[in-house]
Amino acid sequence: MLLLSIETSCDETAAAVVSDGRCILSNIVSSQVAIHAEYGGVVPEIASRKHLEMITPVIRQAIDKANVNLSEIEGIAVTRGPGLMGALLVGISMAKSLSLACDIPLVGIHHVEGHLLAGFLEQPLEFPFLALVISGGHSHLYRVDGYGYYRTLGRTIDDAAGEAFDKTATLLGLGYPGGAMIDRLAQDGNPEAFKFPRPLLHDGSLNFSFSGLKTAVLTHLKKQSHLPEGSELNDVCASFQAAVCDVLIKKTVTAMKQEGLNRLVIGGGVACNSGLRSAAGKMARQMGIALQIPSPKLCGDNAAMLAVAGDAYLSAGCNNGLGIDAVATWPLDTVENRGFSCE
Ligand code: KG4
Ligand code: ZN
Repeated sequence: MLLLSIETSCDETAAAVVSDGRCILSNIVSSQVAIHAEYGGVVPEIASRKHLEMITPVIRQAIDKANVNLSEIEGIAVTRGPGLMGALLVGISMAKSLSLACDIPLVGIHHVEGHLLAGFLEQPLEFPFLALVISGGHSHLYRVDGYGYYRTLGRTIDDAAGEAFDKTATLLGLGYPGGAMIDRLAQDGNPEAFKFPRPLLHDGSLNFSFSGLKTAVLTHLKKQSHLPEGSELNDVCASFQAAVCDVLIKKTVTAMKQEGLNRLVIGGGVACNSGLRSAAGKMARQMGIALQIPSPKLCGDNAAMLAVAGDAYLSAGCNNGLGIDAVATWPLDTVENRGFSCE
């Protein structure tokens, strides 16, 4: 099936053309990061307006780059939620218009469902598996038993991992969003230079908490009379990153053992982090488990990732139709398209 997928849940306007839910023909992402950086975070109203401006050119570019005609597209997958309401509505309205004009089915996909299935675009994977989704809005552990069958095992009780990276970067004067910058600086730092806490590590749950870690960095900075620079800045970044990765990896190991799973997928923007990728690789080798972390361009927000579940649902006859609405808050466990499979 030839699918057009559309993602506008936050600050990236994205469209992709994917065949059979596996082969990416185009994957266009227009980022608004530079616009929101000035405000130190995403401004919802500005995001919606920018999506409105970019949605048509981005979809045109995706169709052109894929070298197909709009008339050849057989179905549409669009992010239904969670996300910013105004931003989601731009993508959903465009998806409905195209569905009506081209007389093709339309399916709404959970944004996190996109992230945790993105790896299928690069290599085959079997269900069931454990998924760690870490992004600006999520730090969740899920058991995944099939398309639409997701069970939350643990989640952050305050900040998401990406949020912690971004807030800490702001404290360090590194700008927004600073996750990638901390990663870069950490590569030349000593992860053991400062002992930052590992929140909830031994609480017996699979939940995360990152807001105290950010506060620990703030307390550390207050003790100094200056913002760290040079090797000291590298050390703070490396020590902070090590604390985040340590908790993420240890809780993931506990979840794998608890669920008796030997396959692990890590997705979302924070899965680009080089420290996390190497720590996860080491853990996977030690435990003898199969690990799949998509390449960085598929970890961050993109539209191709929606096509994996989109193709499975549409191929099985699912059509959410023009009645589909945007959902700002949407627990992944409650997606309704379950039961459809392309196999
Ligand atoms: O998945 P994503 O693109 O958007 C959301 O759904 O939130 O994730 C964005 C988050 C931001 O918090 C960003 O700082 C973080 O991913 N991020 C990173 C890295 N690259 C992006 N965090 C740590 N290390 C990185 N290399
Ligand atoms: Zn995302």
